[in-house]
Amino acid sequence: MPLVSMRQLLDEAAKGGYGVGAFNVNNMEQIQAIMEAARATQSPVIVQASRGARQYSQDNFLYHLMLAAAELYPEIPVAMHQDHGNSFETCKSAIALGFTSVMMDGSLKADGKTPTDFEENVEVTRKVVEYAHERGVTVEGEIGVLGGIEDGHGAGGTGLEHVTDPDQAVEFAERTGVDALAIAIGTSHGAYKFSKKPDGSVLKMDILIEIHKRLPRTHLVMHGSSSVPKDLQDIVNKYGGHLKETWGVPVEEIQLGIQHGVRKINVDTDNRLAITGAIRKVLFENPEKFDPRDYNKPAREAMQKVVAERMTQFGQAGHAGDYTPKTIEEMREGYLDGTLETRPSLAGAH
Ligand code: 13P
Repeated sequence: MPLVSMRQLLDEAAKGGYGVGAFNVNNMEQIQAIMEAARATQSPVIVQASRGARQYSQDNFLYHLMLAAAELYPEIPVAMHQDHGNSFETCKSAIALGFTSVMMDGSLKADGKTPTDFEENVEVTRKVVEYAHERGVTVEGEIGVLGGIEDGHGAGGTGLEHVTDPDQAVEFAERTGVDALAIAIGTSHGAYKFSKKPDGSVLKMDILIEIHKRLPRTHLVMHGSSSVPKDLQDIVNKYGGHLKETWGVPVEEIQLGIQHGVRKINVDTDNRLAITGAIRKVLFENPEKFDPRDYNKPAREAMQKVVAERMTQFGQAGHAGDYTPKTIEEMREGYLDGTLETRPSLAGAH
């Protein structure tokens, strides 16, 4: 099947009460790992590429790998999403390439580092929503600022510096009409999120729950949601790595989020750890090996295992065949006739 709309995936997840993992990719092996995990668990899935990934792999390589994925796994609904678009132009170029969903991260300026003010964020996000919806493409916005830096994108610092204000989240949703909203609740991109298992003082699930109560139709997105499991850290360190002790977001907290409106869960770091651990192990144990397939294959398998586990934990497993994917043209009509409206003041009309 062709690449499908992320909005439809999230609407279906909301109906079914589950979450959908959004996994970052840069190369063929990562895409294969995700698609194999999706097939094994019968999961719909979101595959996402950051600006850094698009530069690393070059747009066309990445896009054609995604088309191959859609062709080779016709039973799997798969959306292709731009992660952390930094400007209208980045989102426009992703749409021109064929992405079915874009994130306009207007919480930061186009430099990808400096926090914006609220009005700037509303303005750029609204412009992207207007452009994308006219073309049937989904839009995710962000209000509040995540901690850490990923692929050169991020304000740095801890996840608690710019936690989302629920009043602003409601106003943002109303004024932009985004399909999905990333909120900052204390998480950060990368491996170093928390210095101990997080509790409510650093991971603000109460804020998430309040936002969902006030914005029941807007799909919430949890960024920085790798769990950074100790076993993956240990493999990296056992075979020559130097990771400091660290904690990620416990899966049970993500599951609590899913009960309260979280429909998209971003995971990158756990897969990076799994790949690196597998490669280190092969090369440590077999220093004579030099065929990249000798380590890329176990690396791909290690990532597949993590992705399949998350798919099961997020609840998307078993849902690939639940619905007939709509075309992007059908989604466009839904945006035009108002049936896909999310703004709180207008959504009730349909
Ligand atoms: P992690 O670094 O926790 O995997 O988060 C990835 C992410 O949020 C991508 O946008």
